[in-house]
Amino acid sequence: MIKPRRAVAETVRTAMPDASRRQYLKLDRNELVPPVANSVFQAVIDQLEPDSFSAYPAVQPLYEDLAAALGVAPNQLLLGAGSDWLVRACFDTFVEEGDEVVIPVPTYGMYPVYAGLRGGELTPLEHLDGFGVPVAGIRKSLQRNPKLLALANPNGALGCYLPWNELHELVVEAAKHDTLVVVDEAYVEYTGDESTARLAAHNNLILIRTFSKACGLAGLRLGYAVGPVELMDWMRRTRPNVEVNEVAVVAGRYLLRHPEVVRHQVALGQAGKQLLVRELTALGCEVYPGAANFVQVQFGWAREGILKLLRSADILVKDQAGAGILDGWTRITVGSPEQMQRVVAIAKQGMGIDERSPDGRA
Ligand SMILES: Cc1ncc(COP(=O)(O)O)c(C=O)c1O
Repeated sequence: MIKPRRAVAETVRTAMPDASRRQYLKLDRNELVPPVANSVFQAVIDQLEPDSFSAYPAVQPLYEDLAAALGVAPNQLLLGAGSDWLVRACFDTFVEEGDEVVIPVPTYGMYPVYAGLRGGELTPLEHLDGFGVPVAGIRKSLQRNPKLLALANPNGALGCYLPWNELHELVVEAAKHDTLVVVDEAYVEYTGDESTARLAAHNNLILIRTFSKACGLAGLRLGYAVGPVELMDWMRRTRPNVEVNEVAVVAGRYLLRHPEVVRHQVALGQAGKQLLVRELTALGCEVYPGAANFVQVQFGWAREGILKLLRSADILVKDQAGAGILDGWTRITVGSPEQMQRVVAIAKQGMGIDERSPDGRA
């Protein structure tokens, strides 16, 4: 009988929901909810040729454009199929069997999977009540010289965010212990601080970013890691033969030439978020806006009714009953103000406040 490696046998994976976008308004996966504009889609398609499909991709132009946009050297970058692949590459490159990996939890669910596949020893650190980043716990764990600290900032499960001036101190502290800090900035565009100046003067810091969230290219799978040349040289050795596909290269380059498209997409989400936060707060819900493209809400006594109504209106949200610090919270990815108005109308209905139709469209 053929057996896998022990680390593989011990790995537990859960299936991701894969509900159809045609049927559902999907507010459960932190995607860009209103899709990219037709004009953007068409502009990208117009640049494709039949050999965009048949030939292997030419990735170098994207390295050059991205480096110029970020103000870094191309050899400080590694592209990959979504930031997810870059997360994996960090573990594959730097973590040996038995190395300690510190991860504030809850967080992006693939960190423990990839750490485990490398045989890393996980130290999960619970976030604090009120979704605080466990800074003191991280500092304490650094005393043990862990190999890697993986921090999603903003956090993709909670929404909390550590501003760079605070994170910076942790990176400096980590350097004293030879600890690599991987900061996953999947939602960085929503924070208003996209500077890569934070990389300067740190030889133990790698940032991971994605075109999946604010850029709206989740379906094309495009992300990148940026960091010191020495570290990126090591990571580059783990890349597949060709790291990203040609359609992703063309679309990524288009968005780098048109940053106003991304700014508009972010602004639309922020307007939706403001509406949702304002209206749900007015209804008496506890709301945690967070720094990413979603909000957390406690519907309280009305929770089950509202969740049922949302479901029957084909609106998917992430309900987190029983999930530790997230127990009772519902995560809602923000869409346009109109889309958020539908959610508000259903929340009102679930609280018996409004006489709208069950799908909130009336
Ligand atoms: C914090 C964080 N990192 C990484 C990812 C992976 O995104 P992608 O692989 O689409 O770039 C996600 C997705 O939800 C996320 O929340």
